[in-house]
Amino acid sequence: MSLERSIAIDGPAGAGKSTVARMLAHALGYRYVSTGDLYRALALEVLRRGLDPYNEAAVLEVAKSVSMRVEPTGDGAQRTILNNEDVTDEIRTAEVDAIVSPVSVYVEVRKYMVEAQRAIAFDVDVVMDGRDIGTVVLAESAHKFYLTASPEERARRRQRDYARKGCHVELADLVDEINRRDEVDSTRQVSPLRPAPDAVLIDCTTLSPEEVVETMLAALGRPDACCIISQNP
Ligand code: DC
Repeated sequence: MSLERSIAIDGPAGAGKSTVARMLAHALGYRYVSTGDLYRALALEVLRRGLDPYNEAAVLEVAKSVSMRVEPTGDGAQRTILNNEDVTDEIRTAEVDAIVSPVSVYVEVRKYMVEAQRAIAFDVDVVMDGRDIGTVVLAESAHKFYLTASPEERARRRQRDYARKGCHVELADLVDEINRRDEVDSTRQVSPLRPAPDAVLIDCTTLSPEEVVETMLAALGRPDACCIISQNP
């Protein structure tokens, strides 16, 4: 395997990265890896210990003392394991959303994360999504994408995700939360969210996931793989 073959997908919260990354991985026979889930697992542990997410030393101590990993599932998704406990559902809550960006800004914390993420890509061909995949984690990749969508559309998608879990969250609150996370993610000093210079930019505001994946496969020179695209691989 080589990092050059792997595929990097970056973009702000709610741009649809995970859906299209999973579909693209399925179409190409690669492993899908969501790096945000590792930062979410860390944020969950900070919450569980009742720590202040703005206390760098405390967050670093948590990062050093927990074991976190992501495992592929048979259906192309991934499970997140924190200290041998499956926390895949617990990391997708409003409480975790609220503190995951602040715990992700610290340089030493990110070193742990980047190392773990690169180790996966050394082992298998991956489609990896996050904020710094094309710029840092898989900087050597020859295939980088940066997905965007309007904040309102991203908030609507998040609202639908919550609704599927039986939770109603006000759209205005989600727009605020998305704008707050964009601000923290793109202005932090270490590995800020930004497109790699060689990334293909795709505005997903009015595109279906299938259309985005078709655009990506065409950019990869693999339009033939389109025939096996499905939203629920
Ligand atoms: O992809 P996501 O929305 O689940 O990511 C949650 C947060 O994790 C995101 O707001 C910032 C952080 N993150 C990061 O800093 N770097 C990454 N590669 C992935 C996520």
